[in-house]
Amino acid sequence: MNRPKVLVARAIFPETIARLEEHFEVESNPNDESWSKAELIARLQGKQGVFTTGSERIDAELLDACPLLKICANMAVGYNNFDVDAMVAHGVVGTNAPDVLTETTADFGFALLMATARRVTESEHFLRAGQWTKWSYDMFSGSDIHGSTLGIIGMGRIGQGIAKRGAHGFGMKVIYHNRSRLDAALEADCKASYVSKEALLQTADHVVLVVPYSAASHHTIGAAEIALMKPTATLINIARGGIVDDAALAVALKEKRIAAAGLDVFEGEPKVHPDLLAVPNVVLTPHIASATVPTRRAMADLAADNLISFLTGKGPKTPVTPVLTA
Ligand code: GLV
Repeated sequence: MNRPKVLVARAIFPETIARLEEHFEVESNPNDESWSKAELIARLQGKQGVFTTGSERIDAELLDACPLLKICANMAVGYNNFDVDAMVAHGVVGTNAPDVLTETTADFGFALLMATARRVTESEHFLRAGQWTKWSYDMFSGSDIHGSTLGIIGMGRIGQGIAKRGAHGFGMKVIYHNRSRLDAALEADCKASYVSKEALLQTADHVVLVVPYSAASHHTIGAAEIALMKPTATLINIARGGIVDDAALAVALKEKRIAAAGLDVFEGEPKVHPDLLAVPNVVLTPHIASATVPTRRAMADLAADNLISFLTGKGPKTPVTPVLTA
C-alpha cells in the first residue's frame, strides 16, 4: 500500500523527521530554505499532510491548488496563519500545539517583564559600550515587580501561568481582562480579579498581552489604549504581532508616555518597525517565548503526533477545525 506523503515546510529536529518517516514518505527542508507560496504549493502536490511552523500561510488559494491535502499540523499554539474558514470549506483539518508550551512561555513572559521593568538590556548595552564610569544613585532606576499590579489581557492557559507566577511568586496584585470571565475556582487559583480593559489599562503597573490574534484582536493596544496607561507602566507583548500598533507604541515610548515595553512579537516580523529599533526603552526579542529545547521538542512531537494520528485513521489529537477523518 502506498504510504501517505507529507511535507515538512521548515527545518526541524532530525528525530521528528525520523518519526514521520516511520509512517510517511517525507519531503523536508533541512536547510530551512525560504519557500515562496508558489514553491510551497508546488512541493505540496501529491501530499496529504503538511507540518507547518506558524510562518506558512494556509489559505483558499493554496488549498484550491493542493486538492490532496487533508491536514495542516502547526508546531505552534497560535494558528493565525491558517484561514480556518477556508480549511473547513475545503475539508482540511488544522491542528495546533497547545499545552506543551504553556509553562515555558509563561516563564518567558515573566523574564521579559523583569528585563523590561528593571532595564536589563538597556543597562547592559550601556556597560558593553564602555559608558559605565561611576555608580550613581539614579542610574537605570526601573520599576518594582514585587507588590505591584499586574494586568493580564488574555487569560488563557499562558495568561493563567503568568498570573500564578506574579501572585504566588512576587506578591503582585493580579487583575485580568478576557473575552469571558474565568470560573471562581480558577480566579482563586490565580489570585486574579476580573476588570474591564479600560480599568486594567488605567490601574496596572505592568500590562502583559497574551490574546490570540484575530481580526477582532487587531491593535488591541493602540494610541488610545496607551493613553489610558500610567506614565510609569510597562507593556509586554508575547501574544502576536498586530495585537499592538507598533508605530503608535514607538511614538509613546519615544515621548515617555509609558516607561518601557518588552516585545517578543512584531507586526510584519521578522521585520521590526524601525522606530522601535531607535528607542532605548524597549526590550526586543525574536519570537522566542517557547524556545527551550524540551518545549520545542514537545511542540514538534505534538505536530508529528497529529499528522500520524490523523493520517493513520485515528483522528487529530489537537484539532482547531471540526474533526474529520482521513
Ligand atoms: C508561538 O508563537 C506559538 O503560537 O506557539
